[in-house]
Amino acid sequence: MKHIFQPGAEKEPTFILLHGTGGDEADLLQIGQAINPHASLLGIKGNILEQGLPRFFKRLAEGLFDEEDLRFRTTELFNFINEAATTYHFDVANSYLIGYSNGANIAGSLLLTYGDVFAGAMLLHPMVPMRKSHYPRLTNTPIFISAGRNDNMCTPAETDELIAIFETSDSEVTGFWHDFGHRLIADEVNEAKRWYTSLR
Ligand code: MLT
Repeated sequence: MKHIFQPGAEKEPTFILLHGTGGDEADLLQIGQAINPHASLLGIKGNILEQGLPRFFKRLAEGLFDEEDLRFRTTELFNFINEAATTYHFDVANSYLIGYSNGANIAGSLLLTYGDVFAGAMLLHPMVPMRKSHYPRLTNTPIFISAGRNDNMCTPAETDELIAIFETSDSEVTGFWHDFGHRLIADEVNEAKRWYTSLR
């Protein structure tokens, strides 16, 4: 997959950066840097193009995901992350997923497919990526979720449902809400940083 890797300081974690629809592998580098300037950064570009806009998986309509493609792309991304860990010598268990919107959705899909693999995740405006009768354990994967109270795409009801799914999977979830719809704002990056710093 198209990507950028910026090595950080030794023993510091790696941030796996997953952009929103229309973004690219460089989009979240600044956010990763703001959260921990010493972290390694792996920015990845989604393999799907929707009317010229890069994404991580296909959708049938806004908010209606192509579940088969989502499963395929989730495996593809997971395999890519593991290959990148070998190439760039980082430990997946010491890496955090950071995703915005479509990137947060595939990050959620990675978590709900593979369970406890990553050190944690920061999901900025995520939706419920998949609904299953059984979810893997996320006991050792703390999750930060930020959302807009007035976000028409990722509605508060859906955010609450996602938080409940992660909690059922035994994850410790921290939510942050703002009033600026689907927008990614400085306050939520600051909150993500505060949350991340409190873990360490
Ligand atoms: C998605 O398709 O993943 C969501 O609708 C969010 C987005 O459009 O990026």
